[in-house]
Amino acid sequence: EQNHRESLMIVTGFAAKFFHESLLETDEGQSIGLSYFKERGFTNATISKFELGYSPDQWEAFTGDALKNGYQEEFLVESGLSVKRDNGSLYDRYRGRVMFPIHSFTGRVIAFGGRTLKKDKNVPKYVNSPESEIYHKSSILYGLYFAKKAIREEDNCYLVEGYADVLSVHQAGIENVVASSGTSLTVEQIKLIGRFTKNITILYDGDAAGIKASLRGLDMILEEGLNVKVVSFPEGDDPDSYVRKVGTNAFKKHIEETRKDFILYKTDLLLKEAGNDPIKKAEIIREIVESIAKIPDSIKASVFIKECSHLLQIDERALLSELNKMRLGKA
Ligand code: UTP
Ligand code: MN
Ligand code: MN
Ligand code: MN
Ligand code: MN
Repeated sequence: EQNHRESLMIVTGFAAKFFHESLLETDEGQSIGLSYFKERGFTNATISKFELGYSPDQWEAFTGDALKNGYQEEFLVESGLSVKRDNGSLYDRYRGRVMFPIHSFTGRVIAFGGRTLKKDKNVPKYVNSPESEIYHKSSILYGLYFAKKAIREEDNCYLVEGYADVLSVHQAGIENVVASSGTSLTVEQIKLIGRFTKNITILYDGDAAGIKASLRGLDMILEEGLNVKVVSFPEGDDPDSYVRKVGTNAFKKHIEETRKDFILYKTDLLLKEAGNDPIKKAEIIREIVESIAKIPDSIKASVFIKECSHLLQIDERALLSELNKMRLGKA
């Protein structure tokens, strides 16, 4: 099976090279792909470090070249680079898209995200590689290979939503950044980060709905014993658009000044929602204590209980007894 995986990675490596060269060395790649990346503010250094590419807008440009070079159909299809037609012939999955290769932990290309350049709402914005023996989405973090050294040095990992966020934040000199890209955060991804640091700072897109939806998922990070902080961005911005808008220094300053511990962030957010309604307030208190109950370190948990009792204006002992009930329920 090692051979099988290796064969797949040889194909994905070849594809990365093909897309990268087609970006830099073909007329179509330069005028469409490269100019798109330049407009987005990506430098040559970023383009080459992350091996960004372009897939020609034809049905068989990549597949044809791969077959000509002796790559076997089996691996082209299994890696998701080529798709089989009913008549058995193959065509390119990625056509006319800018390509973001996804690197393994050790720096091998194992998958791709391809972004459309069309504004058409019916076209999926990103097409991603399917699961394969070398690409298990739930245990991959985009950018980790380029970030792991900085994550260890900074003892913190920034978590963003998208490919472009990783590139722009990295390019701004903040290299300890990864994305869960496409899937919601998994336990495996959290454990992976946990090998390098116990501190995660979430930089999510600034849309209220998205942030609320992700709150529950973040409890998982607490359960793994990691510390979570949250930074939000103005509505409509994501880390990529925001760093380009305000520049590196103001971006760093924004992070420093607004970063908030997840529990306190969640408490604030839910409190605002509950207003003065006592029933709603009771509900959110339970929800917050539920999060705190996930923290394995009981001293840390009691610090949060104290802080939240101030924010919620409720007696610390009441929160503690609720916390203990929940912990017993779990055991
Ligand atoms: P976003 O919609 O926030 O895209 O999705 P983005 O990263 O800001 O993309 P740009 O700036 O318009 O280029 C966040 C991430 O979710 C995944 C991608 O990994 C994307 O980067 N996604 C999004 C998909 O896999 N498929 C989609 O159709 C959309
Ligand atoms: Mn196999
Ligand atoms: Mn989004
Ligand atoms: Mn974006
Ligand atoms: Mn985004």
